[in-house]
Amino acid sequence: MDWLQAVLISAVLAASCTASNRTFPPGFKFGAASSSYQIEGGWNATDKGESIWDRFVHDDPTRIPNNENGDVACDSYNNWERDIEMAVELRLHFYRFSLSWSRILPTGFNNRISEDGVRYYNNLIDGLLARGIEPFVTLFHWDLPQPVQELSGWTNPLIADWFAEYARVVYTLFGDRVKMWLTFNEPIVVCDGAYNTGIIAPGILNPEIAPYVCNKILLMAHAKAWRIYDEEFRPKYHGKVGLTNMWVWIEPAADEYKDLAELALQNFGGRYSHAIFSKEGGWPPGIEEVMAENSLKRGYSKSQFPAFTEEEKDLVRGTYDFCGLNHYISRLIRKAKEGETFTAFPLGDVEDLDGIMLLPDGREVGTSYWDVVYPVGMRRLLVWLKEQYGDIEYVITENGYPTGAGLEDTSRVNYYKDYLEQVLLAINEDGVNVTHYTTWSLMDSFEWVDGYSHKFGLYEVDFTDPKRTRTPRQSAYYYASVIAQHSLDVSTY
Ligand SMILES: *[C@@H]1O[C@H](CO)[C@@H](O)[C@H](O)[C@H]1NC(C)=O
Ligand SMILES: *[C@@H]1O[C@H](CO)[C@@H](O)[C@H](O)[C@H]1NC(C)=O
Ligand SMILES: *[C@@H]1O[C@H](CO)[C@@H](O)[C@H](O)[C@H]1NC(C)=O
Repeated sequence: MDWLQAVLISAVLAASCTASNRTFPPGFKFGAASSSYQIEGGWNATDKGESIWDRFVHDDPTRIPNNENGDVACDSYNNWERDIEMAVELRLHFYRFSLSWSRILPTGFNNRISEDGVRYYNNLIDGLLARGIEPFVTLFHWDLPQPVQELSGWTNPLIADWFAEYARVVYTLFGDRVKMWLTFNEPIVVCDGAYNTGIIAPGILNPEIAPYVCNKILLMAHAKAWRIYDEEFRPKYHGKVGLTNMWVWIEPAADEYKDLAELALQNFGGRYSHAIFSKEGGWPPGIEEVMAENSLKRGYSKSQFPAFTEEEKDLVRGTYDFCGLNHYISRLIRKAKEGETFTAFPLGDVEDLDGIMLLPDGREVGTSYWDVVYPVGMRRLLVWLKEQYGDIEYVITENGYPTGAGLEDTSRVNYYKDYLEQVLLAINEDGVNVTHYTTWSLMDSFEWVDGYSHKFGLYEVDFTDPKRTRTPRQSAYYYASVIAQHSLDVSTY
C-alpha cells in the first residue's frame, strides 16, 4: 500500500472509533413483548370463546412435543400483577402484549362482549399505567376465534370487516389509555406459515392458493382497522396504529444472486408491506411478475396472487403511522441446482424463485433450528427498509434469542449486545429513524410448535410450579442496565 492509502485508512479507522457513540437518542423507548395464547392460560375461563389454537392442540395433542399446549401457559390470566412487577423491575418504557379476540368477543363477533375479558385487560392496562409503563397492544397474534375459522377464517373476504368490527370494539374499550397499536403480528406466519405447512393452527395444508388469498384479505383487514382508528378515534385519542412483519434478512450467496436476494426479500416481507408502505401500492412488482408466469406454467389461467383493484390499492396504501418489524433470522440465497428439493417456505426455501436458502457461515446457532446469530443483518435490514419505504418511523417490535433452561444466559446477553449495537449504528450512522426496541420475550412462554423447550425469556418461568414462578435471568439484569443508562456502555449488571 502506498502512503496515501495508509493515511486514508488510518483516517477512516480514527473516524470510526470516535464515531462509535453508544448512547441511544433521547426519547428512544425500550420494551419487552408477549402474546395472549403464549402466556395467558385461562383458555376456558368464564365465558371465553375457543380459539383456533385451543382447538388445534386439543384435537390432536401430539401435534406439539410432549403434548404441550397453552391451556395454562404462564397463567398470566391469574399472574398479571407479577407481569407488571417484572416490567417495573426491568424499567421498561412499554410492555407489548396482545389481546385474545375470543376472550373479549366469545363468539368472534360483536354481539356479545365478555365482561370478564374486558376486566382482565383493564386491570393489566391500568396496572401498567399506574407504574408509568405504556401498554403497546397487538390486536391479533394468531389466536383466531374458532367460530370465525369455521367460516373459513383468513380466506373468507368477509373477515376483513369482522376484524375491523373487533378493532372498533377494542379501540372503544381501551383507546383512551392505549396509544400504540399493532393490527397484526407477523402476517406471513398467519398465511404462508400456516397454509404452506399445515403444521400450525388451523392445520390446513393448501400451499398454492390459500397463502395468497389470506395475504390479500389480511392486508384489507389491516387497512380497514387502521382507517377506523384514523377516522373515529385519532381525533380524540391521538394514538398510532401500525402492523408488524417478520423480516428475514436475505443476502446473495454470491454476486450473481443479487437480484434473486432482492426478489426473495420482496416475496418475504414485501408481500405484506409493499401494499401499505410503498408509494404505488399493490403487490411488489418483481414478485408479482414471477408469480404470474409461474401460475400459467402450473396451468392456472390467472396469477395465484388475487388482483388488487385500483380502489383496493387506494384503500390499503398509506395505512400506517409507523412500520413495525420483528427480526431474528438472516439467510443467504442461491439458485437451486437441477433436481434439488425444496423445504417449505417461509422458513425454508423459495420454490417460486427456484431459490435455496442457506445459513450465513460459521455463526453461533441458538437452541432453535431456525435461528442464526448475524447481528449485521439487523442494520442492513433497517437500511434496506428505509430505502424501500422511506424515512418513516421504524419500531422494532421483536428481537430475541432462544436458550435452554437456566439463569446464566450469557449467550442471550451477547445476542442483545450485538443486535443493539447494530440498531445504534443504523440510527447514528445510517439515519434510520428507529424509535422503539422490543425484546422477545418478557418471559419464557408457549413457543407454538416448539412447545416450552425453546426459552426466549428475560425471566425464566417454572412450568412445573402451579404458581408459574418467574425468576430474572442474567439478561434481565443486563437489559435493565441498558435501559437505566440509556446506553450500551454498561459495565456491571
Ligand atoms: C450520541 O448519539 C445520541 C443519539 O443519536 C445523541 O443524542 C448524542 O448527542 C450523541 N453523543 C455524542 C457524544 O455524539
Ligand atoms: C377448563 O379446562 C380444563 C383443562 O384445561 C378442565 O380441567 C376444566 O374442567 C375446564 N373448565 C371448564 C369450566 O370447562
Ligand atoms: C422519528 O419519528 C418520530 C415519530 O414520527 C418523530 O417524532 C421524530 O422527529 C423522527 N426523528 C427523526 C430524527 O426524524
